[in-house]
Amino acid sequence: MSTISVYNRKNPFPATVLVNRKLNRQGSEKETRHYEFSLTGSGLHYEVGDSMGVFPRNDPKLVEEILHALHFSGEEPVTTKEGETFSLREGLTRYYQITQPSKQFLDALVQKSSGTNDLKELLHPDRKEDLEHYLWGLEVIDFLLDNPSVRFSPEEFAKTLRKLQPRLYSIGSSLKARPEQVDLVIATVRYESHGRMRAGVASAFLADRLPVGETVPMFVHVAKGFRLPEDPSVPIIMVGPGTGIAPFRAYLQERAAIGAPGKNWLFFGEQRSKCDFFYEEEFAQWHAKGVLTRFDTAFSRDQAHKIYVQHRMLEQAGELYRWLEGGAHFYVCGDAARMAKDVDVALHKIVAEQGGKNVEEAAAYVERLRKEKRYKQDVY
Ligand SMILES: Cc1cc2nc3c(=O)[nH]c(=O)nc-3n(C[C@H](O)[C@H](O)[C@H](O)COP(=O)(O)OP(=O)(O)OC[C@H]3O[C@@H](n4cnc5c(N)ncnc54)[C@H](O)[C@@H]3O)c2cc1C
Ligand SMILES: NC(=O)c1ccc[n+]([C@@H]2O[C@H](COP(=O)([O-])OP(=O)(O)OC[C@H]3O[C@@H](n4cnc5c(N)ncnc54)[C@H](OP(=O)(O)O)[C@@H]3O)[C@@H](O)[C@H]2O)c1
Repeated sequence: MSTISVYNRKNPFPATVLVNRKLNRQGSEKETRHYEFSLTGSGLHYEVGDSMGVFPRNDPKLVEEILHALHFSGEEPVTTKEGETFSLREGLTRYYQITQPSKQFLDALVQKSSGTNDLKELLHPDRKEDLEHYLWGLEVIDFLLDNPSVRFSPEEFAKTLRKLQPRLYSIGSSLKARPEQVDLVIATVRYESHGRMRAGVASAFLADRLPVGETVPMFVHVAKGFRLPEDPSVPIIMVGPGTGIAPFRAYLQERAAIGAPGKNWLFFGEQRSKCDFFYEEEFAQWHAKGVLTRFDTAFSRDQAHKIYVQHRMLEQAGELYRWLEGGAHFYVCGDAARMAKDVDVALHKIVAEQGGKNVEEAAAYVERLRKEKRYKQDVY
């Protein structure tokens, strides 16, 4: 019987880092990391398919730059909406979102500055899209450095900032295979914009400032809509390029641990087989043991033209349709903006071609998969 943990979003558990390892090898253009955290003593329980919420801390260098730009010492007290009081430095480090600027911050800046007419126009409610476009790659610090004469009081500045939100990460392990532990697979966000190197708040915090032995507050985010089929004999098809591999590693650990008889088919994609083939050995072992019934990879930059997971699906359209007809559940995890949409298009095409259906009939078939909770997405 499982006990209920006292830890949740409001009272996150300080999980200790056990492993923080880069998954890409030399020659890769990416930085995707494998993390393992200890949940020992937390009583936390998750199911495969769930995510973990992680509370990051902001980059201390950026905090100091902001304090300097505003002529603050950092010792000034600030009080949050919830009535908690701490120093501005502490607030900027762990309570406030200090990278992407809020509307309130931009409004305040416009009010205090004479040279921001363009920005003033962009803040008009009719110009939302233009504002979004303009803000892409700009952070609070850029506006402060560009407007050195603008002055805020510490409380006033803090009030313009949004609260720093936890980031969700798909769980990459099963408690049945890794008791009291959780694994995550996280792509570190790094990019250059307007002449500065930038980093994602949570992904870079975990990558750069959380060595083994340190703790980070986290909680379980339940995702009932992304569970394995209740019946372990039901076949599953998993499409998980990039970090989208995480929940499927968890599914396979779980199905291997319980000896589930259901067939498992995985599509994985990344840029280069030599340096971006995450968990290659683990998957090869599962394949050899028969846990992974079918395993298809799509390495987009191993050749001159792009090969993506949906191209592999289309190559095996007949077999994929037979699996669906045999009751398989179809799962997609990873990039929402492009990949999940293209995979959806491919799925419709496969159903139409293999099932001899017209566009409407294929759409109805896919819709039925969704309604029956056999087509599940965890995309971001
Ligand atoms: C249910 C769910 C599961 C998820 N699972 C995973 C997972 O398993 N692994 C994983 O890695 N992520 C996962 N994510 C995404 C994750 O939650 C974070 O969004 C991601 O790690 C980025 O957070 P960050 O704090 O590092 O970056 P942030 O500080 O939030 O920065 C990201 C922002 O930076 C800006 N930006 C990014 N690139 C550029 C650029 N090139 N130019 C200009 N601006 C740019 C954009 O405004 C973007 O929104 C998941 C999300 C959800 C909702
Ligand atoms: N906003 C963006 O433009 C953007 C772009 C990429 C990722 N992201 C985000 O970055 C995070 C991490 O990404 P990730 O490291 O997991 O992997 P990823 O960037 O999604 O890449 C994984 C693999 O998918 C390929 N890919 C690119 N477009 C695709 C498409 N339309 N259909 C199928 N496959 C496609 C990539 O190829 P190539 O790289 O060779 O094209 C790569 O081989 C996610 O949160 C994702 O949403 C955002």
